[in-house]
Amino acid sequence: MVDRLEWEHRPVMVREVIRWLEPRPGGLYVDATVGGGGHARALLEAAGGQARLIGLDRDPEALEVAARNLEAWSDRVALLHADFSELGAKLREIHAGAVDGVIFDLGVSTHQLEDPRRGFTYQVPDAPLDMRMDPRLAVTAADLLQRLDVRELADLFRRYGEERWASRIARFVVEQRARRAIRTAGELVECIKAAVPASARRKGGHPARRVFQALRIAVNAELEQLERALPQALEALKPGGRVVVISFHSLEDRLVKQAWVRAAREGQPVRVRILTSRPERPGPQEVAQNPRARSARLRAAERVLASEGNA
Ligand SMILES: C[S@@+](CC[C@H](N)C(=O)[O-])C[C@H]1O[C@@H](n2cnc3c(N)ncnc32)[C@H](O)[C@@H]1O
Repeated sequence: MVDRLEWEHRPVMVREVIRWLEPRPGGLYVDATVGGGGHARALLEAAGGQARLIGLDRDPEALEVAARNLEAWSDRVALLHADFSELGAKLREIHAGAVDGVIFDLGVSTHQLEDPRRGFTYQVPDAPLDMRMDPRLAVTAADLLQRLDVRELADLFRRYGEERWASRIARFVVEQRARRAIRTAGELVECIKAAVPASARRKGGHPARRVFQALRIAVNAELEQLERALPQALEALKPGGRVVVISFHSLEDRLVKQAWVRAAREGQPVRVRILTSRPERPGPQEVAQNPRARSARLRAAERVLASEGNA
């Protein structure tokens, strides 16, 4: 059981999400990353409590919290333990029909990040390097650090972390694990600090940030999941229905942009109009109140009839 008081996740860019999705009474919405239910709740409230919502999450603990936070609308909410890459199949399974809006708020929640059992952050030194959002996944971050060879590790840190010192860190990891397996967040941080030259450590934030991001993306196959989910979200929409994606790093944001640029071309069976020519960013006030919002980028698109123009 998750303690509600422990679950402190403040949803980001709520005003913008509501502005784009325009929730209305009678509407059907999908929250593909329902988490603690913050955005879901805002959507239901904005629709005057008269909308229906399907919430997905791959983390069963998140669903427990969402169920409690959305209790007031329990007859209008269906919560499903699923990856969003299964979005289309799940909607068919429950005979949902076409939907009015879909939201993705990517990444991990504050609760997941700070949970000392899960190892998502370099800030909890004793946390085991797990990083699985879904406990059904077989491979943890510690397993990857133990099993991949030096080239695979370097490639992973470079590709998913855009880490400049990827090769050097990979070498240090392999040397370290030959002495003793790297099992905790603190042990990995020490190894990264030893690998990154002191002059480079002074700039660009915490030296372990990019490697932790890379491991998390790999463990959870985050980019593959998103790539598979984006077309399914468009297919699920009614014409005029909208999708909003909030991403937290450029790899995700690029995928969204590219998928929608393709879907905006003439001749596509499922065609969209891109509503945000550039990603929207949170205002300074929100960033001051909620540091997690700092790197958020929001994009929105609308499904149009395949024959409709994009103007
Ligand atoms: C940033 S949190 C969402 C918070 C939520 N919007 C709120 O207001 O409480 C992201 C959530 O998405 C979930 N998630 C991430 N990747 C997923 C995927 N591929 N399929 C389903 N859920 C996913 C995570 O487990 C996490 O609970």
